[in-house]
Amino acid sequence: MERGYLMMLATVTVTVVAVLGCCGGVEGLGVNWGTMATHKMPPDTVVQMLKDNGIQKVKLFDAEQSTMSALAGTNIEVMVAIPNDQLEAMTNYARAKEWVRRNVTRYNFNGGVHVKYVAVGNEPFLTSYNGSFLNVTFPALQNIQNALNEAGVGDSIKATVPLNADVYNSPESNSVPSAGRFRSDISQLMTDIVQFLAKNKAPFTVNIYPFLSLYGNDGFPFNFAFFDGDANALVDTATGIQYTNVFDANFDTLVSSLKAIGFGDMTIIVGEVGWPTDGDKNANAGNAYRFYNGLFTKLGANRGTPLRPGYIEVYLFGLIDEDAKSIAPGSFERHWGIFGYDGQPKFAVDVTGQGQNKFLMGAKNVQYLEKKWCAFNPNAKDLSKLADNINYACTYADCTALEYGSTCNNLDANGNASYAFNMYYQVQNQDDLSCNFQGMAAVTTQNISQGTCNFIIQIASSSTFSLRPSLLVGTVFIVLFSILLL
Ligand SMILES: *[C@@H]1O[C@H](CO)[C@@H](O)[C@H](O)[C@H]1NC(C)=O
Ligand SMILES: *[C@@H]1O[C@H](CO)[C@@H](O)[C@H](O)[C@H]1NC(C)=O
Ligand SMILES: *[C@@H]1O[C@H](CO)[C@@H](O)[C@H](O)[C@H]1NC(C)=O
Ligand SMILES: *[C@@H]1O[C@H](CO)[C@@H](O)[C@H](O)[C@H]1NC(C)=O
Ligand SMILES: *[C@@H]1O[C@H](CO)[C@@H](O)[C@H](O)[C@H]1NC(C)=O
Repeated sequence: MERGYLMMLATVTVTVVAVLGCCGGVEGLGVNWGTMATHKMPPDTVVQMLKDNGIQKVKLFDAEQSTMSALAGTNIEVMVAIPNDQLEAMTNYARAKEWVRRNVTRYNFNGGVHVKYVAVGNEPFLTSYNGSFLNVTFPALQNIQNALNEAGVGDSIKATVPLNADVYNSPESNSVPSAGRFRSDISQLMTDIVQFLAKNKAPFTVNIYPFLSLYGNDGFPFNFAFFDGDANALVDTATGIQYTNVFDANFDTLVSSLKAIGFGDMTIIVGEVGWPTDGDKNANAGNAYRFYNGLFTKLGANRGTPLRPGYIEVYLFGLIDEDAKSIAPGSFERHWGIFGYDGQPKFAVDVTGQGQNKFLMGAKNVQYLEKKWCAFNPNAKDLSKLADNINYACTYADCTALEYGSTCNNLDANGNASYAFNMYYQVQNQDDLSCNFQGMAAVTTQNISQGTCNFIIQIASSSTFSLRPSLLVGTVFIVLFSILLL
């Protein structure tokens, strides 16, 4: 009797977990899967991780074949992408058709890849690009969507341009969301793009980063970057609407910008939103926890924004840390993952939006290198070249955790050297020759991590051990050629 009751309870619990645990509150959560890492996790492992966590949408930065193969047959919705440096080529219609044929329609079969969007460029109008992509983006967008239409898939697959939130703003004299307009230097271009998107029933895609509002801007009201409502409200004097977080204010500035050119109802996708965990004083797991849990509570309730209540399609940035990303924008760039470099969750996050203190499921069967570290040798005699050697290590490996405000910023000088040497040694797959540094370093099997600073062991990278198909073809060719010569 008692046992039966327990069994029943267990069944009920399992059912509840099955219903809520997977895809409960946040309808079809999306993530950005970037791959700028020295040691990439095998695509199949990543895809299993997506499935284990009920993640149903993924946004890529290219259309890499190994990634696409891993996604085949999963029914996960995919946004493939054309990088900025290929936009110019896409201004040629024949080339655009070829891209669509190779990277979209080829996968369009039962058991193939469920492509939903093609991202044409990535934030091509960023002011820091000095206008490099202003002339090519719109023609590329037109060609790609027209090629999709011509291939007969345009009803279900839409081309869009993920744009940074710097394509719109409100005037300094009246900085409220309802005064939002597209940036004056590109207003005609933005109008043309929006009209084209509307004609094709394609969405507007925008990346919104409350973290960047805070970064390098000490005057920014800290709590306004988060969602828990204890921020001094920004009152939009024209509408009377009170804003308690910068995400809503930013999103509604876009809604107003669209409305001002006659497209106030256009679907908006948030292509990137997230919070990094290292590389800046505000980038840490605690703030990321606060940000994401606020975001998921909002998304789970389909609250939307004051001007756009309801469901918003959102892609988190990002899925996994990328230790080879450019740090030109800041050291935090390599720490955006909700998972670390090895696919393990960094903080608790309840994607169902119910605020429970639970962790996402980490990647399974991750293969690590041996438990070996490279450490500074305190008995080294000649230290005159120490700084040069640390510099060298940090040029080819990720030392951003040593920066001010980061997890390894409190190491002493020896600790600094060890950290740099170890990161280099791991990037070099623990090659013995990579732990010398002119006699100042030695390998150890003792975990030399200190406090908050984790001295990592890298993963055995799929890209290190597998030959790429192009290389294989080359090899086969050489073998054939050699046989012919014989
Ligand atoms: C398809 O996408 C891949 C990966 O992004 C790219 O390298 C390749 O050039 C594309 N194929 C064509 C035919 O454009
Ligand atoms: C943009 O211009 C600035 C200043 O002239 C220069 O430092 C920077 O490298 C340029 N960036 C690009 C992407 O061309
Ligand atoms: C874009 O086109 C304009 C007008 O044809 C031209 O003046 C400008 O140099 C072009 N910009 C780039 C980056 O190619
Ligand atoms: C360790 O390295 C960091 C980053 O390069 C630097 O800010 C810090 O001053 C160094 N600490 C010592 C004790 O040398
Ligand atoms: C090394 O120690 C740190 C801190 O105690 C720990 O988090 C980490 O998992 C350890 N690494 C390995 C490979 O055991």
